[in-house]
Amino acid sequence: MGWWKDSIDIVKRQDPAARTSLEVLLTYPGIKALAAHRLSHFLWKHHFKLLARMHSQFWRFLTNIEIHPGAQIASGVFIDHGAGLVIGETSIIEKGAMLYHGVTLGGTGKDVGKRHPTVREGALISAHSQLIGPIEIGKNAKVGAAAVVLTDVPEDVTVVGVPAKVVRVHGQKDEAIIRTLQEAREASYHSSHL
Ligand SMILES: CC(C)(COP(=O)(O)OP(=O)(O)OC[C@H]1O[C@@H](n2cnc3c(N)ncnc32)[C@H](O)[C@@H]1OP(=O)(O)O)[C@@H](O)C(=O)NCCC(=O)NCCS
Repeated sequence: MGWWKDSIDIVKRQDPAARTSLEVLLTYPGIKALAAHRLSHFLWKHHFKLLARMHSQFWRFLTNIEIHPGAQIASGVFIDHGAGLVIGETSIIEKGAMLYHGVTLGGTGKDVGKRHPTVREGALISAHSQLIGPIEIGKNAKVGAAAVVLTDVPEDVTVVGVPAKVVRVHGQKDEAIIRTLQEAREASYHSSHL
């Protein structure tokens, strides 16, 4: 029951529109997609790869949320709305993360092995943001709606825009710290072979 409780609790905590556990269970496509992913992931890990892909595609058809069976997703993750959301094979999503519709956790097409993003605990990935490559979104970081994120986002930082730039650090608009963090991110981008 732990997984279900974690998954329902986060929805009730984060979404003022959620009224009861039953309503969450019956009407939130994110819960259905994440529950189905547990079976897809089990099949994937036990080398039933084709069955796992077919199972995840079946649930994509029903929910409009595409999660590769290889993705590692903790309990207590919240996918709100979810339509058009894509989560790639080597993505990792930790507890308390929240993702909206239209989000992509995708690859660049140039990396091998771990080639999709890692989303740390409590991070917010807003609607239609595109996170590309084996980058890390730090604990409690926020990615603004429609941002395109190509480099790591430090813990408790907000990034927005295309390409995404730091606009808040610990919720504050401290220009000097923002500039330092942004310069470090740009340096890593230019050395990342993208
Ligand atoms: C980024 C976001 C999470 C806010 O994070 P925050 O840390 O509270 O940041 P703020 O609201 O203080 O905004 C910081 C700056 O970024 C700007 N900003 C906020 N969101 C932005 C976005 N998506 N794109 C571009 N700029 C944005 C603000 O205007 C502000 O600019 P300023 O520095 O010139 O004042 C939020 O604005 C956002 O994008 N939410 C979307 C959530 C979502 O997907 N909802 C869908 C519900 S169905």
